[in-house]
Amino acid sequence: MINESIRYYEDQLCVSGMAIQPLLHEQVTPLYLYSAERITHNVNALQKAFASLGASFHFSVKANSNLAILRQLVSMGMGLDVVSGGELLAALKSGVSGEQIVFAGVGKTPSELELAVTHGVGWVNIENVAECHLLNQLAGKHGTSMRVALRYNPEVQANTHPNIATGHKYAKFGLNRDALLNLLNQAHAFPHLHIEGLHVHVGSQLEDTQGTQDGIRKALEIAEQFPQIHTLNLGGGFPTAYDDRPYPTYHDFAQSMLPLLRPHNLHLMLEPGRSIVADSGILVTQVLYLKEQGGINLVVVDASMTELMRPALYGAHHQVVPLLNAPEKRRVRYTVVGPVCESTDVLAKEVMLPDIQVGDYLAILDVGAYGMVMSNNYNLRPRPAEWMVEADGSARVVRPRQSFESLIAEL
Ligand code: LLP
Repeated sequence: MINESIRYYEDQLCVSGMAIQPLLHEQVTPLYLYSAERITHNVNALQKAFASLGASFHFSVKANSNLAILRQLVSMGMGLDVVSGGELLAALKSGVSGEQIVFAGVGKTPSELELAVTHGVGWVNIENVAECHLLNQLAGKHGTSMRVALRYNPEVQANTHPNIATGHKYAKFGLNRDALLNLLNQAHAFPHLHIEGLHVHVGSQLEDTQGTQDGIRKALEIAEQFPQIHTLNLGGGFPTAYDDRPYPTYHDFAQSMLPLLRPHNLHLMLEPGRSIVADSGILVTQVLYLKEQGGINLVVVDASMTELMRPALYGAHHQVVPLLNAPEKRRVRYTVVGPVCESTDVLAKEVMLPDIQVGDYLAILDVGAYGMVMSNNYNLRPRPAEWMVEADGSARVVRPRQSFESLIAEL
């Protein structure tokens, strides 16, 4: 069993009881497929774990911006965390109110900040002194005021891949302590801003709770001195189990935060992305060719680093499984590669799979977060389709495969 929603029944990989292979009839692979049921499961687990802390949640749209997913999450009571004008407009299209949007990002342009002002976003997370002045000026120009959280770089080490650690001294993110204190002490210079929150996000795919706890302690030292700070936004970072190692759960994080936050009367906000959607998504791909080279059994599939960048970019591990399992077949060690003209276009190294034939389908697991959103058109490959399987097993396309016409028209 992969999880309760994505699992084998009689050796066929199924999502909410629906076998995937028959769905593929006349469909072009690669394609992404998501389980609505698994997303619901993850949101319920999050809400339950943080109930005693009274937290509110904003899903991090950067992890997956498919509108069907955003609409599902909004209908479950989540707000949305966006980092660009594009994500802001996608969030609004999903039906969420401006008030339920948090706008973050290290380099927001003046026009993006103006969009935030005109759409009345609930919170702008500020990362730069000049940005604070600019937002104040834009809010004044539109005769309104904006609620702001200052993103604090607490200079802590998070236990994660160095490429996704954000709270250390040399990161580009956030304001350092001196800059942050200066802004708080000069809050009167920003008549169109309500500086009411601190924002701390120490990294993604956190392997323990230590970095988060260190970040909270440092943020509390500051919040204690400024009574106008009533909200602490701790970002995302909750991990997904891409492999068999033990990872901290939502419950572990909540328990580690509780003793630190209880003595303070602060509202807790969270911006989870990966942990909500990663294990709801698979990338379905078909085997094009087989060849043995240098003693390695290569499987050339129709998916590549353009649909899923994580292995090439971070050396990330994603489990690969066949859509049709064949327990009677011998197991062979394979390396799964894509067609893109880059040596790093390797999706999985040295994985054991039942003896593969050309035309077989494989599923790459745990790709619901930072999969489709990081896809690109390198080698002029069209972006893949996205499918949603509802809890009752019904399936539909929620974003069509990019057509060659639209790809070529933009050249
Ligand atoms: N809030 C802030 C301020 C963030 O920077 C991020 C992620 C999140 C929330 C959501 O974090 P999550 O719950 O997903 O850990 N492309 C990389 C991950 C980049 C994460 C960037 N920031 C990957 O594929 O692993």
